[in-house]
Amino acid sequence: MYGYAALVCLAAVLFWLDPILQLVAPSMLEAPVLRKTPRPAINEALLALESAEDRTLTCPDDEYTVHIFNKAPLVLYVENFLSLAERKHLIEISTPIYEASTVTHDGGGSVERNTTIRDSEVAVVPRTDVVRCIEARARRLQGWRDDMWIERLRVQRYHAPSGHYSYHYDWSRSGAATGGWGRVSSLMVFVDDGEIDESEGGGMAAPLQGGGTAFPRLPRRSSDARWCKFIRCGDNESQSGADADDVQANSSTGVVFEPVVGNAVFWENFRPDGTGRAYEETWHAGLRVLEGVKVGLNIWSWGRVD
Ligand SMILES: *[C@@H]1O[C@H](CO)[C@@H](O)[C@H](O)[C@H]1NC(C)=O
Ligand SMILES: *[C@@H]1O[C@H](CO)[C@@H](O)[C@H](O)[C@H]1NC(C)=O
Ligand SMILES: *[C@@H]1O[C@H](CO)[C@@H](O)[C@H](O)[C@H]1NC(C)=O
Repeated sequence: MYGYAALVCLAAVLFWLDPILQLVAPSMLEAPVLRKTPRPAINEALLALESAEDRTLTCPDDEYTVHIFNKAPLVLYVENFLSLAERKHLIEISTPIYEASTVTHDGGGSVERNTTIRDSEVAVVPRTDVVRCIEARARRLQGWRDDMWIERLRVQRYHAPSGHYSYHYDWSRSGAATGGWGRVSSLMVFVDDGEIDESEGGGMAAPLQGGGTAFPRLPRRSSDARWCKFIRCGDNESQSGADADDVQANSSTGVVFEPVVGNAVFWENFRPDGTGRAYEETWHAGLRVLEGVKVGLNIWSWGRVD
């Protein structure tokens, strides 16, 4: 009888202790809660702000199909994000304005070119109607989230034999360090494998080899062979395996997304738990282009980290 009473007592204490601890010392139970600050001044030249006209622009219907790759971080594989006409348009407007890509060290402060880290060319594309429709598609995919803005679209071109972007995060500082603002999500689209942009070899572009995007820390939930159209599976000569030794093709951790044109990978950069912590699983690299040329499109979203 006493034993039973003691158990009930213990259960009651445990039941009450948790909310009390939450109240007086939440840090004993979880990571500190992010202190939210007002939105910092933003450089509007770097953002693709949605105008009233953008909302009435006539755009083609979305034709993509989404497959959930992972839940936390949320990673989506998006098939047919861009149409052939949109891909051609992006190549056309980027080609005259490419510049050497740079790397940033402190979240935007210092910019430098270092081809050991990143060897590509970038074009911040003009906001034509086609581009505005792509921006609108990226907002729609993300459910028109509050306090989130699409950054100006960047087309990146990588040439063999050295084009690559070594391992990095798309965010530079934790949400806690920025007062709760940062690059909240990334949408990386494969635009071309040399079929449109024939800048390699005067109209006779070598077929693209290499140039996958590797995420060595990302959990892999499915071993279904239907993923093999999009990711590296086993030893596949026609895929870019050779250059990503740190990603085991059939392990449950790590993946290489192959550059399948028109398709995209979307991921969330920060945890939604109010701590401002980023996901280490989003660490990734643009693998070396072994042959040919690869063109990609970055659609980053900036906003409140939560
Ligand atoms: C470029 O980056 C590499 C790797 O981080 C580093 O070793 C090298 O010193 C850098 N080069 C320059 C010029 O900063
Ligand atoms: C090998 O790669 C090709 C081209 O990316 C793909 O079509 C095929 O499904 C892959 N096969 C296997 C077994 O992974
Ligand atoms: C890896 O998994 C894929 C899909 O399940 C399969 O087709 C392939 O043969 C496997 N490769 C190895 C080396 O086990």
